[in-house]
Amino acid sequence: MAMTQLAKALSIGDLRQLARRRLPRILFELIESGVEDEHGLDRNLAAFRRYCLLPRYLTEIETRDQTTELFGRRYQSPFGIGPTGFAALLRHGAEQQLAGAAVAADIPCIVSGAAAAPIEELAAIAPANLWYHLYPAKDAAITAAILDRVEAAGVSTLVLTVDNPVYPKRERDTRNGFSLPLRLSLATMLEAATHVGWLTEYLRQGGMPRMDTWAPFAPAGADAGEIAAFFRSQSPSIQTWRSVEALRRRWPGRFVLKGLQHPDDANRAVEAGIDGIIVSNHGAKSFDPLPSPLDTLPAVKAAVGGRVPVMLDSGIRRGADILIARSLGADFCFVGRATLYGVVAGARAGADRAIEILREEVDKGLALIGCPSVNDLHEGYLMRQDTPLPRAPAASLADSRRQNERGGMT
Ligand SMILES: Cc1cc2nc3c(=O)[nH]c(=O)nc-3n(C[C@H](O)[C@H](O)[C@H](O)COP(=O)(O)O)c2cc1C
Repeated sequence: MAMTQLAKALSIGDLRQLARRRLPRILFELIESGVEDEHGLDRNLAAFRRYCLLPRYLTEIETRDQTTELFGRRYQSPFGIGPTGFAALLRHGAEQQLAGAAVAADIPCIVSGAAAAPIEELAAIAPANLWYHLYPAKDAAITAAILDRVEAAGVSTLVLTVDNPVYPKRERDTRNGFSLPLRLSLATMLEAATHVGWLTEYLRQGGMPRMDTWAPFAPAGADAGEIAAFFRSQSPSIQTWRSVEALRRRWPGRFVLKGLQHPDDANRAVEAGIDGIIVSNHGAKSFDPLPSPLDTLPAVKAAVGGRVPVMLDSGIRRGADILIARSLGADFCFVGRATLYGVVAGARAGADRAIEILREEVDKGLALIGCPSVNDLHEGYLMRQDTPLPRAPAASLADSRRQNERGGMT
């Protein structure tokens, strides 16, 4: 990817177009797809569009601050990179590139339990920025061994995703013929052959990437495809509150649950000793009727009552979306597709560009609503699109009319 093309990408939408050009359709749609009728994809985006940001002008906004404290540490932006499985299939080295971009930008990066790269390698790239998303295995001994490895690698924060207890109904992917291991039809192979950049790299790297975390548990001599199939046979696995409590006892570091949406679940999670919640619907990739996290955030936030940070993902495509989520109470945000488009479009430089775009939009957005810091955002900056701003109380209107009559406004 020529640097100029990345520099010309003005928005996450532009990076998406570059990613679409690079990838075979079956893989691009793996990023795009939702589940079943895919109403959730629209719902996630529409939830943000229901809000306007109400500006306060003429304030001191010469310097703007988007640094955000989370778990006793200051990050340079109020958003991080969410876990996206099989990123290495979309771009060789994507996991290392995302981790590197996170370090350079000083934001957190959650590596997926379905990554190809060795956890030790990623932890060495991003020792102070990497979080690990655990895919617990059906075989508890495998989960224990993975946890030992993640702990030994020095990872600070473990993330358990709770919204995919069974494999969701990803009809678009199934119709496209996506399976693990990849078994491409002739038509799919011919289409893939038109994406020369991706294909050349895929073949040069020996085809399907090998999932390093799962390789030791797969049958001896398993190739990359068989390791992926083994992973699929072990995950998803059904987790319960008992598993959360057991993990809490087992994992010495910070422990975050991702995917909770009900306030009672959030309360129970805090009581179970978790350290943070990411309100999420898996980017609408879990179950189609799930609510948009932006719509459940205020209730979750109220239930948690400041005991642990409440973070949010799903549907963020603009810096303004992050400002809306923060105004509504999110302590931090994550993106999934946004940085994935970037890394697919342009490897490390593309991931950097995605972060830069969001960061600049957050900064400009703060200036344009007259708020000097993301930490000063509150509901007063929000207006529901379908609800006009309430009129000033009648008393104050009457006061100003009286003042006018006395000539007080000359
Ligand atoms: C291609 C892809 C793979 C994903 N893989 C995982 C995963 O392995 N684990 C997980 O918890 N979430 C996964 N997610 C969900 C993201 O972590 C995140 O919740 C979601 O993408 C946020 O929505 P957004 O894409 O609209 O930003 C994946 C999302 C995408 C698009």
